[in-house]
Amino acid sequence: MPLHFLNTQDWSRPDLDALLDDARHFKQSKLGDQLRGKSVALLFFNPSMRTRTSFELGTFQLGGHAVVLQPGKDAWPIEFDVGTVMDGEAEEHIAEVARVLSRYADIIGVRAFPKFVDWSVDRQDRVLNAIATYADVPVINMETITHPCQELAHIMALQEHFGTTDLRGKKYVLTWTYHPKPLNTAVANSALTIATRMGMDVTLLCPTPEYILDERYMGWAAQNVAEHGGSLQVSHDIDSAYAGADIVYAKSWGALPYFGNWGPELPIREQHKHFMVDERKMSLTNDGVFSHCLPLRRNVKASDAVMDSPRCIAINEAENRLHVQKAIMARVVR
Ligand code: CP
Repeated sequence: MPLHFLNTQDWSRPDLDALLDDARHFKQSKLGDQLRGKSVALLFFNPSMRTRTSFELGTFQLGGHAVVLQPGKDAWPIEFDVGTVMDGEAEEHIAEVARVLSRYADIIGVRAFPKFVDWSVDRQDRVLNAIATYADVPVINMETITHPCQELAHIMALQEHFGTTDLRGKKYVLTWTYHPKPLNTAVANSALTIATRMGMDVTLLCPTPEYILDERYMGWAAQNVAEHGGSLQVSHDIDSAYAGADIVYAKSWGALPYFGNWGPELPIREQHKHFMVDERKMSLTNDGVFSHCLPLRRNVKASDAVMDSPRCIAINEAENRLHVQKAIMARVVR
């Protein structure tokens, strides 16, 4: 069976640490031959700037070649359900797509966001799991309902900032921020997962209990605390959550109970615009560091002052996407 990279929770802590070590090596030494003669197929069902660029350039820098496919745009629309009478838009089934791409490429990358209609369906991560089921080559999650490449880039940036790979004892705040649209929970799920995996003291700060993340990720976080130490708490109080924080990681996401019926969620979100990360909140921290996965709407999710502060490491985190993805690709084809 191919070695997929679908979620960090599937990988052991030593294996994740080894990926981070490899990423640090690639940061020092840009070019390599780990993908010489190999091809990477990148399936994008949603837009991207960082992920597409870093995967394409990372493949090139390791001697390989990447092709980008956007099903439904420049490639045929795909059916994912089993047993379907395909008399709709889809021209081919994922069973054929994944098997054919496996004959051409050595790695398949997948970006497939939730449909935002029914969370009970979206939480099955059907697109990613269908491709991983039918593919004969490693599949890498480029963001579906989690974003594991972002997780490693984030942790790498924190380790660089604090000058240590041991992040235990750090107070980590994952804060919801306002955005005019309900967004994917993937990065929030991932941040909660990896921060607890690293043994940090994690606070999930969100406006109301409706913004608490899916039980799978809350469960992984609790499991991680049990195995790796640290702690996990949920807060709806901004000042106490920020007080003494070493790390503030911001993300906006839609509340799960409103998937498919976003109308009643909008006024709740509008009432919590003040969750935007600003200088006053950051002044409550322990000289804390700020980051975000990007893209970010300035002065909506975080203020100009926070983004332009030397304590913002979002650009370092974005750069690290390149290095961690090279480490992941080199590892899964080994
Ligand atoms: N953070 C991230 O994945 O960025 P893109 O959506 O631009 O790929």
